[in-house]
Amino acid sequence: MAQDRLTASQNLPPSDVETIKLESNYLRGTIPESLENRITGSVSTMDDRLLKFHGTYQQDNRDLRLERERQKLEPSYQFMVRVRAPGGIVTPEQYLILDDLARRYAGGTLRLTTRQSFQFHGVLKWNLKRTIREVNEALLTTLAACGDVNRNVMCNPNPYQSEIHKEVYEWSKRLAEHLMPRTRAYYEIWLDGEKAVDSRDEDSVKNPRIPAPGAGSLERKGSGYSEDETEPIYGPTYLPRKFKIGIAVPPSNDVDVFSQDLGFIAIVENGKLAGFNVAVGGGMGMTYGDPLTYPQLARVIGFHRPEQILEVAEKVITIQRDYGNRAIRKYARLKYTIDDRSVEWFRDELNRRLGWELEAPRPFRFEHNGDRYGWVKGTDGKWHLTLFIQNGRIRDWDDYPLMTGLREIAKVHTGDFRLTPNQNLIIGNVSPRNKRKIEALVEKYGLTDGRHHSALRRNSIACVALPTCGLAMADAERYLPELLDKLEVLLDEAGLREEEITIRMSGCPNGCARPALAEIAFTGKAPGKYNLYLGGSFEGDRLNVLYKENIGETEILETLAPIFRRYAAERQPGERFGDFVIRAGYVREVRDGRDLHAAGQEALAAFAASVGSRQQLP
Ligand code: HEM
Ligand code: SF4
Repeated sequence: MAQDRLTASQNLPPSDVETIKLESNYLRGTIPESLENRITGSVSTMDDRLLKFHGTYQQDNRDLRLERERQKLEPSYQFMVRVRAPGGIVTPEQYLILDDLARRYAGGTLRLTTRQSFQFHGVLKWNLKRTIREVNEALLTTLAACGDVNRNVMCNPNPYQSEIHKEVYEWSKRLAEHLMPRTRAYYEIWLDGEKAVDSRDEDSVKNPRIPAPGAGSLERKGSGYSEDETEPIYGPTYLPRKFKIGIAVPPSNDVDVFSQDLGFIAIVENGKLAGFNVAVGGGMGMTYGDPLTYPQLARVIGFHRPEQILEVAEKVITIQRDYGNRAIRKYARLKYTIDDRSVEWFRDELNRRLGWELEAPRPFRFEHNGDRYGWVKGTDGKWHLTLFIQNGRIRDWDDYPLMTGLREIAKVHTGDFRLTPNQNLIIGNVSPRNKRKIEALVEKYGLTDGRHHSALRRNSIACVALPTCGLAMADAERYLPELLDKLEVLLDEAGLREEEITIRMSGCPNGCARPALAEIAFTGKAPGKYNLYLGGSFEGDRLNVLYKENIGETEILETLAPIFRRYAAERQPGERFGDFVIRAGYVREVRDGRDLHAAGQEALAAFAASVGSRQQLP
């Protein structure tokens, strides 16, 4: 398998994206010109690629595609804008600005993502600059929210529950700052007044409104950028693909640390943060029909002290920069770089670059990868309320003014807002005095901690998919709630309403909803059709296996109903659904992505054989 990937890319030139990056002059391209072109709502292909590094994706409203084509209009181009906030924490003032931007430029809706970010959808090209500038005026950024760089650093979002959480959160912020691209293109393009600024304009380089983190004094060179932005970590072509980091604090694995390119697991000894276990090479995506691609779990390779975290992250990234596949993008994630050469090779290379050796990993134990809802009191006497936000979608519905309710809370709240890795929202650091005020608003606007929903719904995630995502093959966010209504009927019949089971749906196999780690998962194949996977663990440390392919709703319900019934009748005390489906033989246990396709084929064949033998019965 490793050999096949390496052979496939041998003698191939770098992919077109590599050339675009190299020729972009540190991510500038012709973005200002594209933004000023009034003839189209889109940007050039090259700038489309580069804009991702600036935190925005060009999309089009797919619901309108056919109609616009019929009317001979260009697609309804619009942009998704992603805001970075390490660990997903913003102040109430920042939240109010995001709420306001969503109302003005993004169709009155905000989306909380599975990586603790905010997303706006539907921003028109004419409003893009204003939106990004206002995000920055709120002292947030969109730089490196997408693109071939380190993205938003995820972190267990409950830092004030203990001193350890606070310390870990501080490390996540420092990691994010340390790994930020150094290019000044972002500041030139988005932050210099109304005028789209030419990158050769000296003033714009000398007087950026907000300095780039880590950038020192600027010495201009004729080519339009200074030595300070030569990307000491990334180099001029950045990374071969996106790069994701998350920090978990056991027993919570809410960040799904094994889904990350680079995961850190906080090790607490005698009440103190002793350091972190390092896990490398996780990733969720795959390409249908290409068995050389697969979701993979990050593998724990060692332990280091807290203050060594920046150095470890930087060296891991430079290995991926130097060895990652730059010819075929679908083979370019760190998981394949490692699987193509071996975990032992990677550990040795990392130790060599560090100049010291990682210690042996230390013991840890995860209990769940979901969120804990409702009020929790922190060690410092402050309160935190985790609200259930279905699929992270914030807007006002006729019978559910969620967006207004949260805005009213932001107006009186003195603590902060925290996004969870499961698309929910924590009203954090509520003073005992303010708690009653917040409770009254929660009640008034009908906000919920999910208590009246089934435990399955409380543990559900769906990616955005249709109509905005260009890669979606089926609905996810728009369909999962409806499917859950029907699954809840089955759960009620089996007496499982309060049984916590994780369920996730992605509109395509890229896996933005981290489907490969759920106990039950779906990835879109075609409108209304999904692959069904079973057997992830409640702790997020096992991959699920393909159980049925390309099925619609009726078959989904017919497949799951008897499994729910058997689980209710035959489970052992405390046995989780994902563990049960393995013990009962529906699918086998998989902890290495390289076994996944074989396991899926076995499960499909076993199912076909069982149907065959049933049909042969007299
Ligand atoms: C080849 C792989 C992938 C590609 C090309 C890709 C592309 C995209 C695109 C185009 C969107 C925007 C959809 C929209 O908001 O309209 C998106 C959303 C998102 N992706 Fe990915 N993605 C990939 C894999 C992943 C993976 C593995 C993760 C994390 C486990 C992830 C995390 C996210 C998140 C957090 C969002 C925001 C929306 C949400 O919460 O669902 N992506 N991705
Ligand atoms: S999983 Fe696929 S459909 Fe869903 S947001 Fe990601 S790329 Fe789009």
